[in-house]
Amino acid sequence: MEEEFSHLPVMAREVVELLLPVPGGMFVDCTVGGGGHSAALLDARPDVRVLGLDRDVDAVEAARSRLARFGDRATVVHGGFERLGMFVERHGEGEKIMGILMDLGVSSAQLDRPERGFSFRFDAPLDMRMDSKQSLTATEVVNGYEEAQLSAVISQYGEERFARRIARAIVAARPVRSTRELADIVRDAIPAATRRRGPHPARRTFQAIRMEVNRELPNLADGLDESVHVIGPSGRVLVLAYHSLEDRMVKETFGRWAGDEDDRRVPAKMPVPPPKPRPLARVLTRRPLRPSTDEVAANPRAESARLRAVERLAEIPDIPDIVA
Ligand SMILES: C[S@@+](CC[C@H](N)C(=O)[O-])C[C@H]1O[C@@H](n2cnc3c(N)ncnc32)[C@H](O)[C@@H]1O
Repeated sequence: MEEEFSHLPVMAREVVELLLPVPGGMFVDCTVGGGGHSAALLDARPDVRVLGLDRDVDAVEAARSRLARFGDRATVVHGGFERLGMFVERHGEGEKIMGILMDLGVSSAQLDRPERGFSFRFDAPLDMRMDSKQSLTATEVVNGYEEAQLSAVISQYGEERFARRIARAIVAARPVRSTRELADIVRDAIPAATRRRGPHPARRTFQAIRMEVNRELPNLADGLDESVHVIGPSGRVLVLAYHSLEDRMVKETFGRWAGDEDDRRVPAKMPVPPPKPRPLARVLTRRPLRPSTDEVAANPRAESARLRAVERLAEIPDIPDIVA
């Protein structure tokens, strides 16, 4: 299984460096994939144990075998990080978590396996589920969504300016049965001049449908909410995002934890401005870290990566009210 599951961990050096100053203890790799980041961390930090999660059973199996040499320092469990709190309760050995990593999106192993239906490069059934136990597949999205709903998904998650034309063409061609059919419909719906430039014309539409099938943005919002509850004082949360909507959500969430509320939302005439929420965390990356040109040359899939990190502040005791 391990040989079949190939995925180069993105920005592994930067991830490990950001986790070096953190106190030892239990860390969670929320998207363990092939176990690349976890292995790098466990090698660098003998005082760390890792709980790895993944929604994909193939990834769980691959990570278990990759991390077997670390013995009981690594535990890998099947499940989604949107329920992080529950997994930490079950497998976290009652400890506060000192590091959390989310490496979002799909793995190369998922993209490169034709039968998973993630890629326009192969012909396969329209599946795209990371978790093969879930019922919603790309077939339902492509053949079952109303045209307007489909167009909204392609426009929002794919950031595709021809979303309406593409959605119309898909609806006209129903039933669409395979990735190849879908890729051809999208290609034909896009103006010829645009088709000749840039990456494959179906890339954005496939990405959008994948994000819808796997509820990637809502899950990220839930996973971030759960993280701030399970991370211990001085612990760090790191997120590697590959999509601008995800990166924006991470940036805004970390900003909220750090107490950077947008002051413009407070009405100017309010006599007493509402108290600022007490910061829970400190942002370590005002601007996201990007992969080096060497890394992108060696692994083009790293190109869009943006790494952000935040550190949970030590608990501040409540200041008692002063009684006059
Ligand atoms: C980019 S890969 C991670 C690769 C990994 N860091 C490595 O070094 O091999 C993303 C992984 O996250 C998983 N995933 C995506 N959404 C998830 C979620 N909500 N909960 C758990 N795993 C998720 C995918 O199945 C995929 O295996």
